[in-house]
Amino acid sequence: MSEPLGVERLLALDRQHVWHPYGPMPGRRDPLVVESASGVRLRLAEPVHGVRELVDGMASWWSALHGYNHPVLNEAARDQLDRMSHVMFGGLTHEPAVRLAARLVEIAPEGLEHVFLADSGSVSVEVAVKMCLQYWRSSGRPEKRRLMTWRGGYHGDTWMPMSVCDPVGGMHGLWSGLLPEQVFADAPPAGFGAEEDPAYAEHLRALLERHAGELAAVVVEPVVQNAGGMRFHSPAYLRLLRRLCDEHDVLLVFDEIATGFGRTGALFAADHAGVAPDVMCVGKALTGGYLTMAAALCTSRVAEGISRGEVPVLAHGPTFMGNPLAAAVANASVDLLLAQDWAGEVKRIEAGLREGLAPAASLPGVRDVRVLGAIGAVELEHPLDAAGMAAATEAAVRAGVWLRPFGRLVYTMPPFVTGDGDVARICRAVCAATAAASRP
Ligand SMILES: Cc1ncc(COP(=O)(O)O)c(C=O)c1O
Repeated sequence: MSEPLGVERLLALDRQHVWHPYGPMPGRRDPLVVESASGVRLRLAEPVHGVRELVDGMASWWSALHGYNHPVLNEAARDQLDRMSHVMFGGLTHEPAVRLAARLVEIAPEGLEHVFLADSGSVSVEVAVKMCLQYWRSSGRPEKRRLMTWRGGYHGDTWMPMSVCDPVGGMHGLWSGLLPEQVFADAPPAGFGAEEDPAYAEHLRALLERHAGELAAVVVEPVVQNAGGMRFHSPAYLRLLRRLCDEHDVLLVFDEIATGFGRTGALFAADHAGVAPDVMCVGKALTGGYLTMAAALCTSRVAEGISRGEVPVLAHGPTFMGNPLAAAVANASVDLLLAQDWAGEVKRIEAGLREGLAPAASLPGVRDVRVLGAIGAVELEHPLDAAGMAAATEAAVRAGVWLRPFGRLVYTMPPFVTGDGDVARICRAVCAATAAASRP
């Protein structure tokens, strides 16, 4: 074992060499150094503003459903490590991946029969799009190669997913002109419980009808647009998209990377609508936040269509595809989730978030407070600048909570194992961060 670096040296090396997500190089602000994590708590290497342990309001970007250092997931990882941590998936197979694929098919919306295991959410979206493009090419309709989506979405940071991220509010505007130009509908009207807006329905219908001949697929995040702004919409629009796609011979892709595995109160957000897509992506919570793994599931129609083509294979094969370690932990995580009253836990957290975040509505600078399942968001009137973000983060840390506000949002997506006291604490921290963010 090498000697510990010590916090000062670690941060110096971090500043000098390490590029953090969406960060400049060299970094302008020191990140917090996490020494370990257990349950819903992150333990810092040394106290920051007098605080050593933080309740995690982010679940590691919405993935750590069961909290950290969970004995069941640890055991699954250790057990698999003793057998093999990795083996190539081309020409070889193994129980953890096969078991996982079968399990995903069993719990996913009806008709999704085939599973491609990818190594990150963004890559699973690439694969989903490749499936759709290849399906049409194999069906003798290569002109169907554009995608349609609605504004306000986020699907990842690799090339094709970037092309369906919000072109204005998103981070990827820099690449317009270089990215494939997709068809954008307006963002869906806000409100999970809102009635279907006939004007918006007509807008979707007209756009799909106009572009159907060149569209391979419609790609959307069902029910919640996550990193694009934590906006909720009515499942009625998913039913409408399903109908329109069927009518106009366009495939439908649901990106459930953030919403899958119970986050919105249904196992998959598609279940709120009672419809199934042709292709579905899952990731993040798939391994309970332990290891990186995602999947693109598709129907037999899509798989058979690809197989009929001139290139009758799906031309994609990541080195770490089907990683046994990640698959073993994913199996344990899915079993753990389904063995408990996960829906009851999400409802409990939802009630706690509704109560705890209500006071935020009367804070200055707040435009909206919304909660759905285990998602609570405070939307500000103005986007946070770097100073506002630092002030909000510091206020949360002082309140003993880890939050990572962005854009106009101070929000939380806590692990499902967060107890009522900790949910209340997270809410107090969201309110404190919101107040700090809008202080002049
Ligand atoms: C809906 C959605 N799709 C795709 C992604 C990209 O996943 P990853 O970060 O694992 O590449 C994210 C990540 O936040 C997401 O929320």
